[in-house]
Amino acid sequence: MAISRKRIGILTGGGDCPGLNAVIRAVVKTAHHDYGMDVIGFKDGYEGIIENRYMHIDPKSVSGLLSKGGTILGTSNRADPFNFPVLQGDEYVYLDRSSQAVLNFESLGLDALICIGGDGTMNATAGMEDKGLPVIGVPKTIDNDLVGTDVTFGFDSAVVTATDAIDKIHTTAQSHHRVMIIEVMGRYAGWIALHSGMAGGGDIILIPEIPYDINCVCEKIRDRTAQGKNFSIVVVGEGAKPIGGDMVVAKVIENSPDKIRLGGISHQLAAQIEGITNIECRVTILGHLLRGGAPSAFDRILATRFGVEAVHMVAREDFGQLVVLKNNQLSQVAIQSVSGKQRLVDYDHPIVKTALSLGICLGHPEDISLEEYCNAIVPSNKIKFE
Ligand code: F6P
Repeated sequence: MAISRKRIGILTGGGDCPGLNAVIRAVVKTAHHDYGMDVIGFKDGYEGIIENRYMHIDPKSVSGLLSKGGTILGTSNRADPFNFPVLQGDEYVYLDRSSQAVLNFESLGLDALICIGGDGTMNATAGMEDKGLPVIGVPKTIDNDLVGTDVTFGFDSAVVTATDAIDKIHTTAQSHHRVMIIEVMGRYAGWIALHSGMAGGGDIILIPEIPYDINCVCEKIRDRTAQGKNFSIVVVGEGAKPIGGDMVVAKVIENSPDKIRLGGISHQLAAQIEGITNIECRVTILGHLLRGGAPSAFDRILATRFGVEAVHMVAREDFGQLVVLKNNQLSQVAIQSVSGKQRLVDYDHPIVKTALSLGICLGHPEDISLEEYCNAIVPSNKIKFE
């Protein structure tokens, strides 16, 4: 009697990042090689499963994918199946389409759904698990802000791109004796700013978790000038804000589950620095550049490890789990336990301590400890986020 082959569905949700195709490739190769399973890819994240748009992916069709940026499946950061935007006339109405997604999953005879995404996708995936879907999560985002894992794929590539940009800006900063401000993505988390700022030799790094004191920033620039270093590199996360101030919102996208798009704090910062120090500033906002291009070698390997393990989890029927990396070992945590949370930078994180020992200014006065400053300014920073 012929035994029917198992079928895995796969989707990529949220903002794209380098490494998505590497996961798809690893899933397809492992499914075929180790288990003889078939793979169906839903197009444009949860939109595809709701609207029944999909493609069959076989090992031949993933050839050459390892180094390709983006996702061959397409993605969407608006497709929440429980609050799905549908245009009626000129207006969006929001409908619960999760039951339609379940119906489509069942009619395709699928045995599991692998969802590759960040916090928005994992929130939706936790809801789909509640509806009985056998789901498995793979952690993706350049922001590195997903709880449960030490690192998400996409982050390293974003840091590599940002570091390369900072290196290039460094030379022109030196030539013109300017303050150069480089703004990087990362939403409410400062991981990209902190890592690329360190790797690029930034003098001042401003992150959302530590509201900055503009006078301390200017003091650092003046100190450098006094030491004969007549240029400064400031790396700022898009979610950074001054003490008592707000994050700069670039756009509000009504039909997106997370409506706020940040961006533009660097212009505010440049105006303040020029006003106080009289030193010329220039701004570079790296934006979506950080999401593009080929994945770094680190991300290719991480994405591949995640993809392979996700298929082993399907075989073991470890549903409702997110594959994660802890101390360089693959592990898994319940998707429900990461849903609705964010992994932010703590003031006592080792990388923060390293930055302080180097004399990098994180926007606080040097005569009080960062711990005292954070506890006074941001009481919520007392709480560990994970
Ligand atoms: O979450 C990834 C990310 O690139 C954030 O760093 C950024 O704030 C946001 O997505 C931008 O979203 P969009 O592509 O919708 O502009």
